[in-house]
Amino acid sequence: MNPLDFSVEELEKLFTLANDIENHPQNYAHACDGKILATCFYEPSTRTRLSFESAMTRLGGRVIGFADANSSSAAKGESVSDTIRVISCYADICAMRHPKEGAPMVASEKSRIPVINAGDGGHYHPTQTLTDLLTIRSMKGHLDNFTIGLCGDLKFGRTVHSLINALVRYPGTRFIFISPEELRVPDYIIEMLREKNIPFEEVIRLEDVMPQLDLLYMTRVQKERFFNEEDYVRLKDFYVLDTTKMELAKQDMLVLHPLPRVNEISVEVDDDPRAAYFRQAQYGVYVRMALILTLLELV
Ligand code: NCD
Repeated sequence: MNPLDFSVEELEKLFTLANDIENHPQNYAHACDGKILATCFYEPSTRTRLSFESAMTRLGGRVIGFADANSSSAAKGESVSDTIRVISCYADICAMRHPKEGAPMVASEKSRIPVINAGDGGHYHPTQTLTDLLTIRSMKGHLDNFTIGLCGDLKFGRTVHSLINALVRYPGTRFIFISPEELRVPDYIIEMLREKNIPFEEVIRLEDVMPQLDLLYMTRVQKERFFNEEDYVRLKDFYVLDTTKMELAKQDMLVLHPLPRVNEISVEVDDDPRAAYFRQAQYGVYVRMALILTLLELV
């Protein structure tokens, strides 16, 4: 499952459902009675796995799975295709995170149950994008006509790649990419933006562009995808969003972050009403509830 598997209209339906779940959770408390979600996580995760588990549990369903490749048969050399064939006998739906790009896609081809990509390497993270879009839509009322700044590790940050791919479908989107030279957005994304004539800029200094932004999407430097420790250490604190920088921003700008945060947002910003990242985590549960219901065809 990729956000682009859904049309913009289908996404609207999903977000309307997520908002209804937010407002009337009791109406959905038994919607997945008797259903099982398998979480197959071959890579570390806290919130993505737990938010899937929370989502299924809040729908009345049950959860099985593993949180570590070493505790699964992958450690014995089993392929994801074989694993998913077997999981298809045990569960009704599966959320899979894998360090290899495309692994959940390969799994879905052999699966009898829906497989949700819960992050594949540095590639995509579609359910985080659904979370980001639902947060923006719920807090701003629309998804078009935004100038969005994406800041930090734009090279390895899979949430960034998925979000750009989704936002290009909304009219009036303008991107400002804020990163050190070494962590720029991959070329294939730049080419896609040029082809579609989507306006974008690439800059290094956050301060310079801050006043223009409607949304600021901060990201962590992705330590686990670096080839050497030295580069990571040099780049990890390149950006620190603090209250001084927030003074340069619009009064209604939203600060988003997929979390986990390291140092890129100072904790003093948490009290700023524009800081939306913890609410974003809450929206992540509602949107995953809506996604499970939709994929299981229970709505
Ligand atoms: C992100 C991820 O796993 O890519 N986290 C998440 O799912 N909320 C972002 C990150 O790890 O930096």
